[in-house]
Amino acid sequence: MADFAVIGIGRMGGQHARNLSAGRMKGSRLVAVCDVDRKKVDDFCKKHPSVKGFYSHKDLIESGVCKAVMIAVPHYFHGQIAKDCIAAGLHTIVEKPLTVTTLEAKSVIETAKANPDVYFGMMFNQRTNRMYRKAKELIESGAIGKIQRANYVITDWYRSQAYYNQGGWRASWSGEGGGTLINQCVHQLDLVQWLLGMPERIVSSCRTVGRNISTENDLYAVFGYKDFDCYFCASTHELPGENRFTIVGTKGTIVITSWKMTYTILKKSEPQVNAETKQGYGSTSMRTYRYGYGLIRKPIDLIYGQQWRVIEAFGKAIDSGNKDLMVARGEEGLRSLTLINGIYLSNWKKETVSLPFDDEEYAKLLKEKADAEGDK
Ligand SMILES: NC(=O)c1ccc[n+]([C@@H]2O[C@H](COP(=O)([O-])OP(=O)(O)OC[C@H]3O[C@@H](n4cnc5c(N)ncnc54)[C@H](O)[C@@H]3O)[C@@H](O)[C@H]2O)c1
Repeated sequence: MADFAVIGIGRMGGQHARNLSAGRMKGSRLVAVCDVDRKKVDDFCKKHPSVKGFYSHKDLIESGVCKAVMIAVPHYFHGQIAKDCIAAGLHTIVEKPLTVTTLEAKSVIETAKANPDVYFGMMFNQRTNRMYRKAKELIESGAIGKIQRANYVITDWYRSQAYYNQGGWRASWSGEGGGTLINQCVHQLDLVQWLLGMPERIVSSCRTVGRNISTENDLYAVFGYKDFDCYFCASTHELPGENRFTIVGTKGTIVITSWKMTYTILKKSEPQVNAETKQGYGSTSMRTYRYGYGLIRKPIDLIYGQQWRVIEAFGKAIDSGNKDLMVARGEEGLRSLTLINGIYLSNWKKETVSLPFDDEEYAKLLKEKADAEGDK
């Protein structure tokens, strides 16, 4: 049994703590919660008397009550708390994003490398969506051939001004290290790198539309790979918005929307059609398949969130001693963060950014943005 503590029991951590204490994750249970907001801790422990409460993660670590921690605090605190927990030998799963800068993410990863017995995971819950898992299988098996293009339009995470007004740390350089990109898009950017790998360069443009915030809520980025480009477009002010990920290969095309996936496999690959066609146009027969989110999974995930599946898998990995059961390893958090930092860097410098970029330069520019907010 993996004994968990949740650090940060706000909106997301509170849900993780309730799911754990209700026994929804087989093989894992909640033994403690920790939050700097004492009232949240006291209220939670009053409702769940078997759960111990802590007001500081250092006291939690010292107590020795838990074997694993789930960190769900505002972004800027992820790195230090993760390093303290990992160094103390606690299995650690971090909410997205791993940290705010690639510079700090690398120092967390170094701490994890120095403590190889510790299980270190990331909360990338979109990876539990069976449609993206199917897409990964189709790409890796070669079923759609060589990738030629990808488009990801994700504009259905609507956030009103009231959303930004409710939490002090949201949509600011000083509070969360960015806006829509680092908060919402981190999920899709993890999927981009998980399915397509890491690009070689990034060019982007970010803007703020219709909200009183200092960060972006509207952006596009082009990720340049060796043989293709991925066009990424996101916003949080559009209604109703859309969620559409298209991946085109030489032998087939995958289209994933919110709850449905369609994939088409060509009888002959495009290069073969091109080689054989004597006319100016060409075609081949093809078969189209439909694949869904899953009728039973949909209501369960809508009520409890997809996140419980990631925590359950993390607990099972610890229990069975098999790190491969984790949905996402901690080190993988660096990749989506590299895309996020790279998009901001390209927008700030108005130039194409090649990967890897200078981590220290990024951290310095971000700090300047955060400091400038304080001057307003
Ligand atoms: N996976 C997802 O789909 C998903 C969804 C929402 C939020 N999140 C992530 O969860 C994290 C928290 O977001 P939220 O919406 O719950 O924020 P929130 O503001 O509602 O909650 C954060 C909590 O952390 C506490 N806290 C702050 N500093 C702390 C510290 N040093 N030690 C202990 N507790 C501390 C706050 O008091 C608060 O209760 C963020 O990383 C966010 O990106 C993930």
